Amino acid sequence: MASVEQAQAAEATLLHAIADQGWVDRLADPIQKPVYNLLKRFDALRSALDGTWLGHPVHPAIVTVPVGSWAAGMILDLLDVTGRNRTLRPTTDAVHTIGLVSALAAAVFGMSDWSYTQGAAKRVGFIHALTNVTISGFYGASLLARARGARGTGVALSTAGFGLLLFSSWLGGELSYHYGVGVSRTAFEEPQADWSPVEDGQHGPVQEGAVSEGVLRRVQVNGRPILLTRHEGQLRAIGDTCTHMGCSLSAGTLEGDQVRCPCHGSRFRLTDGLVMAGPASVAEPAYAVRVQDGRVEVRHAAN
Ligand code: FES
Repeated sequence: MASVEQAQAAEATLLHAIADQGWVDRLADPIQKPVYNLLKRFDALRSALDGTWLGHPVHPAIVTVPVGSWAAGMILDLLDVTGRNRTLRPTTDAVHTIGLVSALAAAVFGMSDWSYTQGAAKRVGFIHALTNVTISGFYGASLLARARGARGTGVALSTAGFGLLLFSSWLGGELSYHYGVGVSRTAFEEPQADWSPVEDGQHGPVQEGAVSEGVLRRVQVNGRPILLTRHEGQLRAIGDTCTHMGCSLSAGTLEGDQVRCPCHGSRFRLTDGLVMAGPASVAEPAYAVRVQDGRVEVRHAAN
């Protein structure tokens, strides 16, 4: 039992030691701000990199390619070194090359995810990226050594890179599981199956006449924040918590039949909550709306 406690304590100590490195900000900020500002100017590019088109962040999906390739390369190298199979050397080198090329592609998507992070997540993400650059350097040097016939050096370099890869993969996991990067901020909301009255915290049940055309209101249903508005005469309701990083959509702006998040500009359609522009990749919960005795009621509707 003590060993489990020690392992947990060591993991937390290491993570916090990385997250507390203030000097990282001085290196990270001059990179993060230009990347963020660039993506902010191009909705289509941002949506492509952040997985809006896929309904899922792209970076965690694509990293399986370099990790899998390099793991396979490690096993093939092991077979070679132990003298069991040397005929697979061309395959081994091809697998290492696939790992390197796909790692560079994954870095582009990861850079976009990282550009929205702050504080500890930003620092851990920067160390994660820095480690990945180092890993790519090891694998690039390994491929060069292999091409020049220095097989032993090549294997040593890729083995060192693989060791670092395990560390970097742990950091990537912590970014999602510990800091929630890429996790939908409505992930734990249960669907509101029954019709329920919409309430304004201070004024009780919301009356239909109190919802004006084009005005975004943050109201609640069973304690859950939702966005209520009237568009072209119809009452519309979707979740108020932006699925990207949790900002309140009612503080955003209405653009046609879409709401633009005030924080990073994701756009959600009022009629069904679908993401029309990233960085969000997960739709807002959508609600059907009815009026009963002058009061507004909602229930969950399929996207
Ligand atoms: S919080 Fe990032 S787009 Fe809404």
